[in-house]
Amino acid sequence: MKYDLVNDVERVLFSEEEIEQRVSELGKEISEYYKDKNLLLVSVLKGSIVFMADLMRHITVPCSIDFMAVSSYKDGTVSTGNVQIRKDLDIDLKGYDLLIVEDIFDSGRTLQHLTDVLELRHPNSIRLCTLLDKPDRRDPNVKIKADYIGMQVPDLFVIGYGLDYAQKYRNLPYIGIIKPEIPAMLEEEKKRSENKA
Ligand code: IMP
Ligand code: MG
Repeated sequence: MKYDLVNDVERVLFSEEEIEQRVSELGKEISEYYKDKNLLLVSVLKGSIVFMADLMRHITVPCSIDFMAVSSYKDGTVSTGNVQIRKDLDIDLKGYDLLIVEDIFDSGRTLQHLTDVLELRHPNSIRLCTLLDKPDRRDPNVKIKADYIGMQVPDLFVIGYGLDYAQKYRNLPYIGIIKPEIPAMLEEEKKRSENKA
């Protein structure tokens, strides 16, 4: 299948300008809260890198950064809650005020697991910042709340500004909804190659 970065988008949800505006507001809010703290931004790879890169440039207090990669095993597009750490932090968390930076708060299972793991390392505090929030999808067992939310989105699959479908579209500078025929075509292709094997 041939991907088309721009034409595979059904509809733009948030333009570059809208995202920039909201990210700068979040940066201000975060800077105010952390002005007397020891901020460490933890970006959850890979989806949050674009957001992280923009957000940190709107933060006006000193901060450190680190990265973590987790894989949540998904059943189609739904996460099963089985989360594994693929790349751990380099920094010892003692003395830091952590702000976890995520692309999207969906079922919430990934962030719940991450928070549980990081709490055991005794940082001063942990807060969560998510660019997007899909409240309709939340797992009722998930207890954590996001402290900073960029925008709320409906229960639709979104791509761009770091968010992928099958590892593609992360480089779109805006956020859009993927055309429904793209996932359908990929599924078809997968089935065909499985039959051949
Ligand atoms: P959760 O554990 O269900 O909250 O899964 C969150 C992760 O699923 C996010 O960090 C994304 O990587 C991925 N995800 C959930 N919804 C979307 C979406 O609409 N587009 C792209 N990725 C998504
Ligand atoms: Mg992600």
